[in-house]
Order: sequence, then structure tokens, then C-alpha cells
Amino acid sequence: MRKKYIIGNWKMNKTNSEAKELIALFKEELSGSLNENIQVVVCPPYTSLDMANSLLDNTNIKLGAQNVHYAPNGAYTGEISISMLKDLGVEFCIVGHSERRAMFVETDKLVNLKVQEILKNKLKPVICVGETLEEREYGKYKEVVKTQIEQALKNIDSLCAQSCVIAYEPVWAIGTGKNATVEQAQEMCEFIRYVISQIYEIQVSQKVSILYGGSVNINNSKDIMSAPDIDGALIGGASLKSEFIDIVKTQI
Ligand code: PGA
Repeated sequence: MRKKYIIGNWKMNKTNSEAKELIALFKEELSGSLNENIQVVVCPPYTSLDMANSLLDNTNIKLGAQNVHYAPNGAYTGEISISMLKDLGVEFCIVGHSERRAMFVETDKLVNLKVQEILKNKLKPVICVGETLEEREYGKYKEVVKTQIEQALKNIDSLCAQSCVIAYEPVWAIGTGKNATVEQAQEMCEFIRYVISQIYEIQVSQKVSILYGGSVNINNSKDIMSAPDIDGALIGGASLKSEFIDIVKTQI
């Protein structure tokens, strides 16, 4: 059975003191009740990683970053390296989020470089893929997502591929309150698994965790996460409040 992941992507929200309050609440409400079938990950901004690492020490809630640079160090003003993240207890890293693709020119090539470095350093990449509304309306959504997956996994061997987490996040569903239906999300997660089986083999595709993201909330999370090919959720807005706890509790 594949593990379920519930990952909170805080984006550019919460000062360090606000983050401290929320992490403390998550810890109090969740850390005693999680089992090995479910992995909760929080991805606060860089500025709160150190604090979150201390607070979450000795709990089963893990820490993720929202982005990383692929180079080990060097003249990259404003960037953060993987070793800096590792040093703060970070075990997961989101890559290729559509906001980064659209606003910060994160190309498929850049996504692939980051995925390679993250895996080399034994962290887990959370690779985001998804089509725009226009691409869906033109019937190109599968083609777009297939290319994103193939490019992200270039030069990744089958063993490393199994430790990747994929998040299908249709751009039109992110932060809009308009989530994909369970059928749409299942169709795409199943398709992504098929694409992975074509790159590697079926056994590999069965081991990769594929999540859905885009306006996940307490009202839709249970149905979405019960679909056969959906192994959890990447959650933005609802991860900034106690609703995140309620969503996790539906899975325990
Ligand atoms: P949302 O964001 O849950 O606020 O739609 C999801 C994401 O961007 O990962």
C-alpha cells in the first residue's frame, strides 16, 4: 500500500512568530495520532524552517521547503542551496510549482536540474505538474502534463524515481476555490501513473506517490483522497489554518 501524503504549502505567508503558533498547534493536535500510513509535511517559508525544525523535532510531522537552487553553493544572490536546507532538517522540497513556473520562469529544464540535485542529496522532491485552463479547454492537458513529467524525470534512474512525490495541480484550480472534480483528478493521476510506467515500468509507477492539489479543503479532501490513484494532497490556503488539522484527521 502506498503511503498517503498531506503536504501544506504555505507560500509567502506567516511571519516567524505566526508560523510558530501554527506549527505548535499542528504538533499538539496531530503528532500523537499519526500512523505510518500517513505522512504530514509542512512547507513554511525559508525564514521559519529553523524554528519549525526545532519544534517538530521528535515528531512524525516532517519539514519541506518551497523551492531550492540546484547549485551546491556560489554566487547566486538570494538563493538557498540543498545543503542549507538539509542542515535545517528539511526532507522534502517542492519543485516546479505553477506559481514558480509562471512568475519566476522555472522551466522544465530547471525543474529537472533541481530534481536531480534533490535526489542526489537524498531529499524527496515534490514535483508539481498541471495544465492551464486554456490548455484544458483546447484538449491539450494530457500532452502538457506528459511533457512536464518526462522532462522532470530526465536522467533519473528507476530507484530514485520511486522516491519522488508528484503533485498534479491544475493551474485553474489553485487558489481559485474551484477544485477539480474527483473524476478529473483521478483521471489525471491515473494518467501520470501510466506515463511513469512508460518511462520505467509498471512496478515503478505503482510505487510513486501522486497527489492532487488545487483548492483542497475540508469539504472535498476526503472524496479526492479516496480515489484509487490519488495518494494525498498538496494544500495551499487551507494549510494556513486549523482546517489543515481537520483534513489530516479525516485520514487517520
Ligand atoms: P490552494 O493551493 O490549495 O490554495 O489552491 C495549492 C497549491 O498551490 O499547492
